[in-house]
Amino acid sequence: MPAISPKDGPVAVTGCSGFTGGHMVRELVLHGYQVRACIRDANSWRGKDCVDYLSKLPNVEIVDGCDLFTAGSYDKAFEGAVGVFHVAAVLGNSATVEAQPLGSGDVSDDVYQGGITGTQNVIDAINASGSVKRMVYTSSMAAVSGAKGATIPQGYEWTETDWASDEVDPKVWEHPRNAYARSKVDTEHLINKAADDSGSWDAITMNPAMICGPILFKAQVGQWIEQIGRLAGGLEPTWPSKYDMYYNIIDVRDLVKAHRLTAEIDIDHRQTRGGPRYVMHGSGGRSAMRFGTEVAEVIRDHFPTYTIGEPATITSKGEPITIESKAHNDCKKAKEVLGATIRPVEETIRDVVETSVELGIISPQLQ
Ligand SMILES: NC(=O)c1ccc[n+]([C@@H]2O[C@H](COP(=O)([O-])OP(=O)(O)OC[C@H]3O[C@@H](n4cnc5c(N)ncnc54)[C@H](OP(=O)(O)O)[C@@H]3O)[C@@H](O)[C@H]2O)c1
Repeated sequence: MPAISPKDGPVAVTGCSGFTGGHMVRELVLHGYQVRACIRDANSWRGKDCVDYLSKLPNVEIVDGCDLFTAGSYDKAFEGAVGVFHVAAVLGNSATVEAQPLGSGDVSDDVYQGGITGTQNVIDAINASGSVKRMVYTSSMAAVSGAKGATIPQGYEWTETDWASDEVDPKVWEHPRNAYARSKVDTEHLINKAADDSGSWDAITMNPAMICGPILFKAQVGQWIEQIGRLAGGLEPTWPSKYDMYYNIIDVRDLVKAHRLTAEIDIDHRQTRGGPRYVMHGSGGRSAMRFGTEVAEVIRDHFPTYTIGEPATITSKGEPITIESKAHNDCKKAKEVLGATIRPVEETIRDVVETSVELGIISPQLQ
């Protein structure tokens, strides 16, 4: 099977101005790889911040102008590369009409097509290279649990055999609300078929839950790490949710390490249970944590002088919100097959807060 190592040649990473992409580059460099770091626009504020960080790492070549919506824009980055880590997606800070000047003007369509059209462009560049042996794609738990999350029994453990699209009413599945989960499911199928058709490279998918951990540069802030920072800064959370809810945390460092291990292990991932995908959520210990109580408590334990913010628990209609967590996850397959390691979630939360303070993202309000 096409396992890769740093001695085989350079590897490329897409979406390097993002949280996971930046960590992916760091992980690969620390393990001896020459990395082609693909970014969309080195002159955007995120691009500049990312270039500033990546320029300090050894063995990184920044490849600017890589846009998911532009055919051929990954060709230069993948030429002569042996592996591709496809991390970029239209989500978070990048999922607005303004952030997607080459998109359709409709955010849910861009989220979906960022996966399908964007990944087809990535696949075409892999095929054009003739050198890439392995692709690792960052999908999501949204492709595993997605729209049917509410229907599972208490204590259910999601596995790689679960697909978010299974047994879901097609009308519900097609709703713009499910654009992200649909994009991830359909993109996984697209990649698996393209790899089988090519016969010269194989593909592996990682399915992470909510990605959290230390912030390397300011432009990475968004989504869940931003909300943990806000809580530690004494503020109410904002987008993706101002409400109290369960946080299903995976540490970004454990996630990118597992990405690297999938590329380096000499097995046919298709022959493993559930095929070439790995659920990346849960340590076997704390799998889901209630934000306003359990996450807040970890922050309080590490930073006892901080005033901690509170998520909303009452809706705009004055009704109490319902909060449930039915799943219990354990990264079992990733641990067994890849030798993945998952650190205690308390460390992850602490490191979000520490780096948020260090980078001046939050100013703690002392009690
Ligand atoms: N965050 C989570 O909790 C979570 C959970 C499960 C799965 N995931 C998946 O993990 C991956 C990384 O997520 P993240 O949270 O690290 O994302 P992020 O910080 O929002 O980064 C997204 C990256 O994708 C790039 N991108 C967006 N639109 C693009 C386009 N049109 N062309 C090229 N690049 C584009 C962004 O570049 P710009 O800076 O130029 O916008 C950025 O580098 C994604 O595939 C996501 O679906 C994330």
